[in-house]
Amino acid sequence: MAQQIKEQILKDLILLPEDTEVFHAIDWESCPQHIAFIMDGNGRWAKAQGKPRTYGHSAGVRTVHEMVEVCGKLPVRHVTFYAFSTENWKRSETEVRALMGLFSSSLRKYLDELETQGVRIDWIGDISAMGGQIEKEFTEAKERTKHNSRIHMSLALNYSGRADLVSAVRALGVKLRNGEISPLEITEESIQNHLSTRFLPEPELLIRTSGEMRLSNFMLWECAYSELYFSSVHWPDFKKVHLFEAILAYQKRQRRFGGE
Ligand code: FPP
Repeated sequence: MAQQIKEQILKDLILLPEDTEVFHAIDWESCPQHIAFIMDGNGRWAKAQGKPRTYGHSAGVRTVHEMVEVCGKLPVRHVTFYAFSTENWKRSETEVRALMGLFSSSLRKYLDELETQGVRIDWIGDISAMGGQIEKEFTEAKERTKHNSRIHMSLALNYSGRADLVSAVRALGVKLRNGEISPLEITEESIQNHLSTRFLPEPELLIRTSGEMRLSNFMLWECAYSELYFSSVHWPDFKKVHLFEAILAYQKRQRRFGGE
Protein backbone atom coordinates (compact mmCIF):
# COMPACT_ATOMS: atom_id res chain seq x y z
CA MET A 1 0.00 0.00 0.00
CA ALA A 2 2.73 2.47 1.04
CA GLN A 3 4.59 1.63 -2.17
CA GLN A 4 1.46 2.28 -4.24
CA ILE A 5 0.94 5.69 -2.64
CA LYS A 6 4.57 6.58 -3.28
CA GLU A 7 4.37 5.51 -6.92
CA GLN A 8 1.24 7.60 -7.42
CA ILE A 9 2.96 10.67 -5.97
CA LEU A 10 5.99 10.09 -8.17
CA LYS A 11 3.76 10.02 -11.24
CA ASP A 12 2.49 13.52 -10.42
CA LEU A 13 5.42 15.21 -8.81
CA ILE A 14 8.74 16.22 -10.27
CA LEU A 15 11.45 15.67 -7.69
CA LEU A 16 14.58 17.80 -7.70
CA PRO A 17 17.87 16.12 -6.72
CA GLU A 18 17.73 17.72 -3.25
CA ASP A 19 14.18 16.37 -2.68
CA THR A 20 14.92 12.71 -3.37
CA GLU A 21 16.51 11.43 -0.17
CA VAL A 22 14.04 13.02 2.19
CA PHE A 23 11.10 12.07 -0.06
CA HIS A 24 12.03 8.38 0.15
CA ALA A 25 12.55 8.56 3.91
CA ILE A 26 8.90 9.58 4.43
CA ASP A 27 6.20 7.01 5.16
CA TRP A 28 3.56 8.43 2.83
CA GLU A 29 0.86 6.24 4.37
CA SER A 30 0.94 8.37 7.52
CA CYS A 31 1.17 11.80 6.03
CA PRO A 32 -0.55 14.64 7.93
CA GLN A 33 -4.05 15.32 6.57
CA HIS A 34 -4.02 18.99 7.48
CA ILE A 35 -0.92 21.19 7.38
CA ALA A 36 -1.12 24.78 8.59
CA PHE A 37 1.50 27.38 7.73
CA ILE A 38 2.55 30.54 9.52
CA MET A 39 4.26 32.29 6.62
CA ASP A 40 6.93 34.42 8.20
CA GLY A 41 9.99 36.25 6.94
CA ASN A 42 8.73 37.98 3.80
CA GLY A 43 9.87 41.37 5.09
CA ARG A 44 13.33 40.18 6.15
CA TRP A 45 13.78 38.30 2.89
CA ALA A 46 13.03 41.47 0.91
CA LYS A 47 15.16 43.67 3.16
CA ALA A 48 18.16 41.38 2.68
CA GLN A 49 17.93 42.21 -1.01
CA GLY A 50 17.45 45.91 -0.48
CA LYS A 51 13.83 45.67 -1.63
CA PRO A 52 10.59 46.92 -0.03
CA ARG A 53 8.66 44.56 2.25
CA THR A 54 5.87 44.28 -0.31
CA TYR A 55 8.33 42.67 -2.71
CA GLY A 56 8.68 39.90 -0.12
CA HIS A 57 4.92 39.43 0.10
CA SER A 58 4.66 39.07 -3.68
CA ALA A 59 7.39 36.43 -3.57
CA GLY A 60 5.49 34.82 -0.68
CA VAL A 61 2.44 34.35 -2.90
CA ARG A 62 4.57 32.20 -5.22
CA THR A 63 5.45 29.96 -2.27
CA VAL A 64 1.75 29.63 -1.38
CA HIS A 65 1.07 28.63 -4.97
CA GLU A 66 3.87 26.06 -4.94
CA MET A 67 2.81 24.59 -1.58
CA VAL A 68 -0.79 24.18 -2.75
CA GLU A 69 0.38 22.54 -5.95
CA VAL A 70 2.78 20.17 -4.15
CA CYS A 71 0.42 19.31 -1.29
CA GLY A 72 -2.31 18.61 -3.86
CA LYS A 73 -0.12 15.82 -5.20
CA LEU A 74 0.55 14.37 -1.75
CA PRO A 75 -1.93 12.61 0.54
CA VAL A 76 -2.58 15.98 2.27
CA ARG A 77 -6.27 16.96 2.33
CA HIS A 78 -6.20 20.49 3.79
CA VAL A 79 -3.71 23.36 3.81
CA THR A 80 -4.24 26.57 5.75
CA PHE A 81 -2.13 29.72 5.44
CA TYR A 82 -1.97 32.57 7.97
CA ALA A 83 -2.16 35.43 5.48
CA PHE A 84 -3.47 38.41 7.49
CA SER A 85 -3.98 38.53 11.24
CA THR A 86 -6.30 40.85 13.14
CA GLU A 87 -3.06 42.43 14.46
CA ASN A 88 -1.66 43.05 10.96
CA TRP A 89 -3.86 46.18 10.67
CA LYS A 90 -1.20 47.83 12.85
CA ARG A 91 1.25 47.76 9.94
CA SER A 92 1.82 50.87 7.83
CA GLU A 93 -1.04 51.96 5.61
CA THR A 94 1.14 51.34 2.54
CA GLU A 95 1.84 47.75 3.54
CA VAL A 96 -1.79 47.01 4.48
CA ARG A 97 -2.98 48.45 1.17
CA ALA A 98 -0.37 46.45 -0.74
CA LEU A 99 -1.42 43.24 1.01
CA MET A 100 -5.11 43.84 0.26
CA GLY A 101 -4.21 44.45 -3.37
CA LEU A 102 -2.14 41.29 -3.41
CA PHE A 103 -4.95 39.12 -2.03
CA SER A 104 -7.25 40.27 -4.83
CA SER A 105 -4.72 40.23 -7.65
CA SER A 106 -3.31 36.80 -6.65
CA LEU A 107 -6.76 35.30 -6.48
CA ARG A 108 -7.56 36.66 -9.94
CA LYS A 109 -4.22 35.51 -11.33
CA TYR A 110 -4.39 31.94 -10.03
CA LEU A 111 -8.11 31.22 -9.83
CA ASP A 112 -8.48 29.42 -13.18
CA GLU A 113 -5.41 27.33 -12.53
CA LEU A 114 -6.44 26.46 -8.97
CA GLU A 115 -9.88 25.51 -10.19
CA THR A 116 -8.42 23.19 -12.85
CA GLN A 117 -6.04 21.66 -10.30
CA GLY A 118 -9.02 20.65 -8.15
CA VAL A 119 -8.36 23.12 -5.34
CA ARG A 120 -11.29 24.06 -3.12
CA ILE A 121 -10.75 27.67 -2.05
CA ASP A 122 -11.87 28.86 1.35
CA TRP A 123 -10.99 31.21 4.20
CA ILE A 124 -11.17 31.50 7.96
CA GLY A 125 -11.59 34.78 9.82
CA ASP A 126 -13.77 37.86 9.47
CA ILE A 127 -13.32 38.68 5.81
CA SER A 128 -16.20 41.17 5.89
CA ALA A 129 -13.90 43.83 7.40
CA MET A 130 -11.46 43.58 4.50
CA GLY A 131 -13.46 45.55 1.99
CA GLY A 132 -16.37 44.58 -0.23
CA GLN A 133 -14.17 43.74 -3.20
CA ILE A 134 -12.13 41.07 -1.37
CA GLU A 135 -15.21 39.58 0.23
CA LYS A 136 -16.96 39.41 -3.13
CA GLU A 137 -14.00 37.85 -4.94
CA PHE A 138 -13.34 35.25 -2.27
CA THR A 139 -17.03 34.40 -1.98
CA GLU A 140 -17.20 33.85 -5.75
CA ALA A 141 -14.01 31.78 -5.71
CA LYS A 142 -15.36 29.67 -2.87
CA GLU A 143 -18.62 29.09 -4.73
CA ARG A 144 -16.85 28.28 -8.01
CA THR A 145 -14.54 25.71 -6.41
CA LYS A 146 -16.83 24.21 -3.77
CA HIS A 147 -17.04 20.82 -5.51
CA ASN A 148 -13.28 20.46 -5.91
CA SER A 149 -11.84 17.68 -3.83
CA ARG A 150 -8.15 17.35 -4.63
CA ILE A 151 -7.14 19.71 -1.84
CA HIS A 152 -8.87 22.21 0.39
CA MET A 153 -6.98 25.49 0.76
CA SER A 154 -7.96 28.03 3.39
CA LEU A 155 -6.46 31.47 3.83
CA ALA A 156 -6.65 32.98 7.29
CA LEU A 157 -7.82 36.53 6.55
CA ASN A 158 -8.41 39.08 9.27
CA TYR A 159 -8.08 36.09 11.57
CA SER A 160 -6.77 35.49 15.04
CA GLY A 161 -7.32 32.56 17.35
CA ARG A 162 -8.56 34.73 20.22
CA ALA A 163 -10.92 36.82 18.05
CA ASP A 164 -12.36 33.61 16.64
CA LEU A 165 -12.91 32.25 20.16
CA VAL A 166 -14.56 35.50 21.22
CA SER A 167 -17.04 35.35 18.33
CA ALA A 168 -17.79 31.68 19.10
CA VAL A 169 -18.43 32.49 22.78
CA ARG A 170 -20.64 35.43 21.76
CA ALA A 171 -22.71 33.23 19.44
CA LEU A 172 -23.14 30.67 22.22
CA GLY A 173 -24.01 33.50 24.64
CA VAL A 174 -26.84 34.59 22.38
CA LYS A 175 -28.19 31.02 22.20
CA LEU A 176 -27.94 30.74 25.97
CA ARG A 177 -29.80 34.02 26.52
CA ASN A 178 -32.53 32.93 24.09
CA GLY A 179 -32.94 29.67 25.97
CA GLU A 180 -31.87 27.62 22.94
CA ILE A 181 -29.12 25.90 24.97
CA SER A 182 -28.35 25.30 28.65
CA PRO A 183 -24.92 26.03 30.24
CA LEU A 184 -24.17 22.29 30.21
CA GLU A 185 -24.47 22.33 26.45
CA ILE A 186 -21.43 24.57 26.24
CA THR A 187 -18.87 21.89 25.56
CA GLU A 188 -15.62 21.52 23.65
CA GLU A 189 -17.67 20.27 20.73
CA SER A 190 -20.15 23.16 20.73
CA ILE A 191 -17.34 25.74 21.00
CA GLN A 192 -15.56 24.04 18.11
CA ASN A 193 -18.77 24.12 16.08
CA HIS A 194 -18.90 27.90 16.39
CA LEU A 195 -15.32 28.59 15.34
CA SER A 196 -14.58 29.68 11.78
CA THR A 197 -12.48 26.51 11.48
CA ARG A 198 -15.47 24.25 12.16
CA PHE A 199 -15.27 22.76 8.66
CA LEU A 200 -11.62 21.75 9.15
CA PRO A 201 -10.00 18.92 11.06
CA GLU A 202 -7.33 20.06 13.53
CA PRO A 203 -3.94 20.44 11.86
CA GLU A 204 -1.62 17.58 12.73
CA LEU A 205 1.33 19.69 11.64
CA LEU A 206 1.91 23.43 11.99
CA ILE A 207 4.90 24.87 10.16
CA ARG A 208 6.29 28.32 10.92
CA THR A 209 9.09 29.69 8.78
CA SER A 210 11.83 32.20 9.44
CA GLY A 211 13.07 31.03 12.81
CA GLU A 212 10.45 32.58 15.10
CA MET A 213 9.10 30.09 17.62
CA ARG A 214 5.65 31.26 18.58
CA LEU A 215 2.02 30.86 17.56
CA SER A 216 1.24 34.57 17.14
CA ASN A 217 -2.44 34.04 17.91
CA PHE A 218 -2.94 31.43 15.18
CA MET A 219 -5.37 28.52 15.67
CA LEU A 220 -4.95 28.55 19.45
CA TRP A 221 -7.78 26.12 20.04
CA GLU A 222 -7.12 23.90 17.03
CA CYS A 223 -3.38 23.47 17.65
CA ALA A 224 -3.82 22.01 21.14
CA TYR A 225 -2.21 18.78 19.99
CA SER A 226 -0.58 19.80 16.72
CA GLU A 227 3.06 19.07 16.16
CA LEU A 228 4.92 22.35 15.75
CA TYR A 229 7.77 22.62 13.29
CA PHE A 230 9.99 25.68 12.97
CA SER A 231 12.07 26.23 9.88
CA SER A 232 14.82 28.83 9.73
CA VAL A 233 14.09 29.46 6.03
CA HIS A 234 12.22 32.67 5.12
CA TRP A 235 8.81 32.00 3.56
CA PRO A 236 9.74 33.07 -0.01
CA ASP A 237 12.62 30.54 0.07
CA PHE A 238 10.51 27.70 1.49
CA LYS A 239 10.54 24.87 -1.08
CA LYS A 240 9.35 21.28 -1.47
CA VAL A 241 12.45 19.92 0.21
CA HIS A 242 11.68 22.01 3.31
CA LEU A 243 8.11 20.75 3.34
CA PHE A 244 9.35 17.17 3.09
CA GLU A 245 11.80 17.81 5.95
CA ALA A 246 8.90 19.06 8.07
CA ILE A 247 6.76 16.01 7.26
CA LEU A 248 9.64 13.68 8.09
CA ALA A 249 10.27 15.47 11.40
CA TYR A 250 6.54 15.15 12.18
CA GLN A 251 6.67 11.42 11.57
CA LYS A 252 9.53 11.03 14.01
CA ARG A 253 7.51 12.60 16.81
CA GLN A 254 5.53 10.50 19.24
CA ARG A 255 2.01 11.87 19.45
CA ARG A 256 0.55 10.97 22.83
CA PHE A 257 -2.39 13.40 23.19
CA GLY A 258 -1.83 13.53 26.94
CA GLY A 259 -1.68 9.75 27.30
CA GLU A 260 1.39 7.70 28.27
C1 FPP B 1 4.69 37.54 7.36
O1 FPP B 1 5.95 38.02 6.99
C2 FPP B 1 3.79 37.60 6.21
C3 FPP B 1 2.58 38.19 6.18
C4 FPP B 1 1.99 38.88 7.35
C5 FPP B 1 1.76 38.23 4.97
C6 FPP B 1 1.73 36.93 4.23
C7 FPP B 1 0.90 37.08 3.03
C8 FPP B 1 1.21 36.58 1.83
C9 FPP B 1 2.40 35.79 1.54
C10 FPP B 1 0.24 36.81 0.73
C11 FPP B 1 -0.59 35.58 0.52
C12 FPP B 1 -1.68 35.90 -0.43
C13 FPP B 1 -2.40 35.01 -1.13
C14 FPP B 1 -3.53 35.46 -1.97
C15 FPP B 1 -2.10 33.59 -1.13
P1 FPP B 1 6.46 39.37 7.66
O2 FPP B 1 6.01 40.50 6.83
O3 FPP B 1 6.01 39.40 9.09
O4 FPP B 1 8.01 39.18 7.58
P2 FPP B 1 9.09 39.70 8.61
O5 FPP B 1 8.83 38.98 9.90
O6 FPP B 1 10.38 39.30 7.98
O7 FPP B 1 8.92 41.17 8.73
